[in-house]
Amino acid sequence: MLSRQVAAKLATYETPFYLYDIDLLNQTLDSLMSVARRYDYKIHYAIKANYDKRLLEIIRKHGLGIDCASGNEVKCAIEAGFDPKTIVYAGVGKRDKEIRYAIEQGIYAINCESIEELGVVNDIAGDMGKVVSVALRVNPDIDPRTNHCIDTGQADSKFGISYEEILSSVEYIRSLKNLDVIGMHIHIGSQIRELHVFENMCNKVNVIVENLTSLGFELEFVDVGGGLGINYDMPENEPIPNFASVFAIIKQHLQVGKREVHFEFGRAIVGECGELITKVLFNKTTATGRRLVIVDASMTELIRPALYGSYHNIENITSKEEQRTKYTIVGTACESTDVFDENVSLPITKRGDLLTLKSAGAYGMSMASRYNQHDLPAAVYSDEL
Ligand code: LLP
Repeated sequence: MLSRQVAAKLATYETPFYLYDIDLLNQTLDSLMSVARRYDYKIHYAIKANYDKRLLEIIRKHGLGIDCASGNEVKCAIEAGFDPKTIVYAGVGKRDKEIRYAIEQGIYAINCESIEELGVVNDIAGDMGKVVSVALRVNPDIDPRTNHCIDTGQADSKFGISYEEILSSVEYIRSLKNLDVIGMHIHIGSQIRELHVFENMCNKVNVIVENLTSLGFELEFVDVGGGLGINYDMPENEPIPNFASVFAIIKQHLQVGKREVHFEFGRAIVGECGELITKVLFNKTTATGRRLVIVDASMTELIRPALYGSYHNIENITSKEEQRTKYTIVGTACESTDVFDENVSLPITKRGDLLTLKSAGAYGMSMASRYNQHDLPAAVYSDEL
C-alpha cells in the first residue's frame, strides 16, 4: 500500500485528499490490455468511476475508449483527448441537448434505454440531417449477486429495455430511418465478485443476439458492460483484478460470431489505485462508551459507506503505538450516517494522525459533493511526491 510507504511526505499536504498510485494504475492497465488484445476485445473505461484528468490521460495512452452516462461526461472525455469514435453513451434519462451534443460530436454509439428514447433520438437525428449509430441496451434480468443498491440488470430495474418490449417493438424500431442499430448493450451491475455470474450473462446474451439477428438487426458489436469487482476487504492481496479469469469465461461462453465484444470497466481499472487520506481531528467517547475518532474527511469526499453501507479498509499510517483498540470512524458532515466504519481496530489514534481509506479510486472523487460548503478534495499523484 502506497500511503504507508510515503506517509512522511503526505504529512506536508493539506488533508483530506485522494492519493493516486500511478504505477499501480499503469500496471493494472497493462494487465487489462494485454489480455484484452489476446482476445481482440475492445475496452471502454466507465468515466463515471473517476474523471480525474491525469488518470484519464494515462487511460487514453493505454488505448481504451470511454463509456459515458451524461453529455458532460462525453464532453469531459473529448476534452481529455479521446477520439469521439471511441466513445459510447448510455443512460436512462438523456436530455435533448445531451443527445444533440453526442450526435454533433459523432460518437461511436448512443446506447438507448427505452423505446421512447429511440424515437426521440431518431427525431433529433432527423432534424440534424444525420443517421445515428445506436445500440439497444437490453435488460437481461440477471441477478449479479452484489449489493442491491448497485445492481442494474434485474427485471424491475430502471435500466435497459425489457427483451419482451424489444420483441414487440421490432417493426417500430425498424421504421426509425435516422437510426442505424449497430449494437446490443447490457450492464448487469457493479462490484461483481462471483465470476459465474458472467457465465449466466453470456448464456442470456447469446440468445438475445441470436434472436435480434434473426429479426434482421445487423449488430456490429455486443457490449457486455463492466461490473468486475475489487477486493475491498484485503486490497493488498489483490491490487490488480483478475481480468484474465473474466475474459476466459467470456471467451468460453459468449457465442456472438465475428461481432466485436466490448467491455466497460470502471471500478476494476481505478478502484485500487486511489486512497483517501484524512487527518484525525478529535477523539471522544459517547455516553454509551463508543470511542469515536473524528476525521477531517466525510461523506462529502467519500459517500460510499453512507450511501450503500460499503466497506473501505482503514489504517492509521502514522501512529507508532503498539497497543490497539476499536474505534468508530466518523466524518465532519452534519449527518448521522456520516460514519466510515465501526469497530475498526487501530493502534491508539491521536489528533494529527493520518488515516487512509483504501480502494477509494472508483466512485470516490466522482461522487464527492459540496454539502456543508466543503471544498472538493484535492488529488496527489505518486509520481509527483
Ligand atoms: N457501464 C454502465 C452502463 C454502468 O452503468 C456502469 C456503472 C459501468 C459500465 C461501470 O461499472 P463498474 O465496472 O465500475 O462496476 N457508485 C457505485 C457504483 C455505480 C455503478 C454505476 N454504473 C459504487 O460506488 O459502488
